[in-house]
Amino acid sequence: MKRILFVDDEPKVLEGLERMLHAQRKQWEMSFVASGAEALALLETRPFDAIVTDVRMPEMGGVRLLECVQQRFPATMRVVLSGFFEREAALKAAGLAHQYLAKPCDPERLCEAVERLCRLGPVFSDEATRRVVAAVGRLPSPGRTDAGLIEALGKPDVPLEEVDRILRQDEGMSARVLDLVNSAGFGLFCEFASLYQAAGPVELEPLSHLWLAVEIFRTFQPDCSIAGFSPEGVRRHSRRAARIAARLPVPRETFAEAVTAALLHDVGKLVLAVRLPGPLERALETAARENRPQCAVEQEILGTDHAEVGGFLLSVWGLPRTIVDAVTRHHHPAAEGPLLDGLDVLAVAHTANALDAERSAGADPWDSEYLAALGVADRLPAWRAMAEQIASAGGI
Ligand SMILES: [Fe+2]
Ligand SMILES: [Fe+2]
Repeated sequence: MKRILFVDDEPKVLEGLERMLHAQRKQWEMSFVASGAEALALLETRPFDAIVTDVRMPEMGGVRLLECVQQRFPATMRVVLSGFFEREAALKAAGLAHQYLAKPCDPERLCEAVERLCRLGPVFSDEATRRVVAAVGRLPSPGRTDAGLIEALGKPDVPLEEVDRILRQDEGMSARVLDLVNSAGFGLFCEFASLYQAAGPVELEPLSHLWLAVEIFRTFQPDCSIAGFSPEGVRRHSRRAARIAARLPVPRETFAEAVTAALLHDVGKLVLAVRLPGPLERALETAARENRPQCAVEQEILGTDHAEVGGFLLSVWGLPRTIVDAVTRHHHPAAEGPLLDGLDVLAVAHTANALDAERSAGADPWDSEYLAALGVADRLPAWRAMAEQIASAGGI
């Protein structure tokens, strides 16, 4: 049973929500309160999995309430349900929420969003991971212009006029997008988008995941002064891992997910660097001194590691389960049996990471039992040569 708290100062809205969500009674224990103060008082009495709040409320507004929840109850997922005319406050609140929903919101959409956030609980029951990720806040999902651009770029040989037309639709957005077009991230997007195309017809969804991946690298700009940590190093390793992934034997249907998983497998490192630079620095220093894998030391110091943090964050943002799973378990996958037709998404993330990482010191370890169970040990020399070739090619 999940515990969900709804906050809205309009009694009619609360009644409407209660009626609309009646069918959820079997899965959710729901509380409905009319103010931020009542919500905080209730949160003091027992933990809630998620809070769904309005933005414009007298006395304590939604923004203040979410700030308090973020600080005092970081493990509670924060959802904003806001009306159209509260745009400014809503934008502030959106930065504090994991999920932003506009009123009116149909019950399926609301349930789906809350369920998705809550499902993360049992998977990532580890409080430490949830706390780190819950404090990150939210990343903007692609807006309409981004979505149009993604669609246009997904078509083979898209005419430049088409891209130009999309960019001109929205001036503020086009400045941002042009910035992006001129960045290395955009080159990355085009490179992998064309790889997806080469593998077969491209669906819009994998392309928007790829777009999100590029946005994540752009958004997380950790402080470069953390000893032993280089954000650029993480980006380059991630890019190489994705290139390796694209050349491993992957079934066509999961090709895009496998490449995206490889690209995002270490995103948790950037999150830790932004949120917990001190403990990360200690973990890196200990790992180097004792010559142990970074993830093991992170577990000791933080109670979680970059794989769990990255996977959790991606699941909050709604990436597919296969990608989330591959990122979460990329150091320690557990084989379910020998491979039948190519590597699955998790196997690709593990293999691509290890093939690139083993070339440097303090690498993420191979799981040799896993490799043996997959029955691919004899292919390793050829894969190593391929990884070497990718590393020496350099590029963006
Ligand atoms: Fe890793
Ligand atoms: Fe890695």
